[in-house]
Amino acid sequence: MDFSNRLIPLLLIVFLVVSCSKKPHNISENSDELKIDSLIQRMTLEEKIGMIHASSAFTSGGVPRLGIPELIMSDGPHGVRFEHGRDWARDMDVDDSVTYLPTGICLASTWNTELGYQYGAVLGSEAKHRGKDVILGPGVNIIRSPLCGRNFEYLSEDPFLTSRMAVGYIKGVQDQGIAACVKHFAANNQEENRSGINVVVSEQALREIYFPAFEASVREANVLTVMGAYNKINGLYCTQNPWLLNQVLKEEWGFKGLLMSDWGAVHNTREALLSGTDIEMGTDLLQMPNIDYNKFYLADSAIAMVKRGEVPVSVVDDKVRRILRVMFSIRLFGNRTPGEANTKEHQQLALKVAEEGIVLLKNQQILPLNIAKAKKILVVGENATRKHAHGGGSSQVSTKYEITPLEGIKNLVGNEAAISYQQGYEITRENTVNKKLSDDAVAAAKNADVVIFVGGWIHNFNPAEWGIDAYDSEGIDKKNTQLMYGQDKLIRALAEVNNNVVVTFFGGGPVDMAPWLLQVKAVVQAWYPGMEGGTALANILFGKTNPSGKLPMTFAKKLEDNPSHSIGEYPGKSMEVNYAEGIFVGYRYFDTYQVEPEFCFGHGLSYTTFEYSDFMVETSDNTVSLSFNITNSGKIPGAEVAQVYVANKEASVKRPSKELKWFTKVMLEPNETTTVELELPKEAFMFYQETKKQWVLEPGEFEILLGSSSRDIRLSQTVEM
Ligand code: GLC
Repeated sequence: MDFSNRLIPLLLIVFLVVSCSKKPHNISENSDELKIDSLIQRMTLEEKIGMIHASSAFTSGGVPRLGIPELIMSDGPHGVRFEHGRDWARDMDVDDSVTYLPTGICLASTWNTELGYQYGAVLGSEAKHRGKDVILGPGVNIIRSPLCGRNFEYLSEDPFLTSRMAVGYIKGVQDQGIAACVKHFAANNQEENRSGINVVVSEQALREIYFPAFEASVREANVLTVMGAYNKINGLYCTQNPWLLNQVLKEEWGFKGLLMSDWGAVHNTREALLSGTDIEMGTDLLQMPNIDYNKFYLADSAIAMVKRGEVPVSVVDDKVRRILRVMFSIRLFGNRTPGEANTKEHQQLALKVAEEGIVLLKNQQILPLNIAKAKKILVVGENATRKHAHGGGSSQVSTKYEITPLEGIKNLVGNEAAISYQQGYEITRENTVNKKLSDDAVAAAKNADVVIFVGGWIHNFNPAEWGIDAYDSEGIDKKNTQLMYGQDKLIRALAEVNNNVVVTFFGGGPVDMAPWLLQVKAVVQAWYPGMEGGTALANILFGKTNPSGKLPMTFAKKLEDNPSHSIGEYPGKSMEVNYAEGIFVGYRYFDTYQVEPEFCFGHGLSYTTFEYSDFMVETSDNTVSLSFNITNSGKIPGAEVAQVYVANKEASVKRPSKELKWFTKVMLEPNETTTVELELPKEAFMFYQETKKQWVLEPGEFEILLGSSSRDIRLSQTVEM
């Protein structure tokens, strides 16, 4: 019995366990590099290759001989997904219920980076509890069109807001000793033809709009993993694009972690090996039902290619090194602190994010509802009782409970008012109107003091079926932004018989409001507010919580007003989509081209008012110090999101009329004043010059705009740079 080949690995495991059981630390610590070197030296080529592709639905290969475990991943961005086990069949006898957090766009609407961190911490702790090493989130793709089916999972149309929220979230996850996975890199802004569409986009738009959140995730949050997107960029698949992965992500940004493909996003062995994809995931989806992990692109054919000398083994070693770095960073070899799930604290965080993410769009002196006057409350709409956790695609979760709006309203004021419910409309594949439901709701509205309509979008018609209907779901985009099932007509009819209609929407983006907006007293955007969403909505409607959410995207008056539908293409044709609008995405377009939105980026009302004063600026060697006061000039406590935009007044090229470069959220008691001081770095005044392929700061005049939204500018100053 030759003990040497057993003794060494055993010693190695002991050595690794002893040396790694400390708190999570930044990637590529020198001590780890030495351990990684020794591991790689011991590996056979087959063992190395086994690590760079999937070994099951949500794991990549380990090396048992050397004590290297598989890397275990799980979706999703707002909760740890169902327990899929190794072959996609849901494992029904595992309690996989988790905290169902509000989805990404609701988190972004809080504009509260501290909440972003706490949100990530809950996710990381629950992923640990479920035995995962990597949580596949956040999704940070820019909201380019309101039709993208996954906007509900993403954050914003603005790269700065997206970056700030992503950095907090990732730090929260990774401080739990779990790897985050920022996705989908890059320019994956539609679901239509996502697996093959070629995005034609300028480098300037990539650098200024589509890259920043990924760059911040790497440079500021030290994100441990990145997911390569399905689509092509300028002709090359993202997972086979050496400029995108080797040059930009790894060389320029200094990314030391691993780049995994999206599931089934690798299409060529040589291209993926040489372009910087470190782990091929999900190709089994394309093999179903005859799954053979050796037939992955980065499996047997990769071994053969290396053996033929067509690809140097050093290329494979770098991938293995990156995977081991992530494993050491999350202390996979040490004993990790235990996680926890479904705790009261986690559920309270879900409530807080929902309360701060719900946006009050319109309020004609009706909200908060006065329970002394609103004695007979009629709740109308399918979304008042529908649950959403299971829908949406890979971000689906199973949760212990989900408070619907009707439940939330009953829990809050059920013993002070008579609350009745009418479904009002029916969700059908044929998008039909149910006249009886509508007539019954209108009849009931005649006798109500106030009508609370809860409508909007849903996820999949049937959670098990993705990409079949035009809803907020992975795999499919919406056909338009019109309300379905006759909701428009119903809202108008309700408003004709009742003067106090409050409209609240679920959904990942705007709906056309023109048909009824002038007839209703209030409009509230609730997004998908998670398991405590109904509680949060009720707290806001009845004033227990003062709303503070702000739109992270522009709500256009009509679809064709969006630049992706007027200047650019959406969803493109013959597998190609041209981002002809360039950097003029969202408010950068609406403001510069003077197109009036229904509700603008950064808009959100409060039950109190805020005054801005004493705005001062001071420049010193290309940085600008600002200070200003905010006062709560109303009668109740509230939180205000102060936004700072920069306008380049003398640029040599066409620039957006304003760009968000800073924000902060402050909580103020009535009559309380706080002084905000900040420094804008020189980067806030730079733009990417495509001809020079670099960021430039052109001397000249800049305007600094301080506001409560992108169009509610309260004070401004000009500076010379
Ligand atoms: C999906 C999604 C990605 C998800 C992955 C695993 O296709 O695009 O966001 O994390 O596959 O489910």
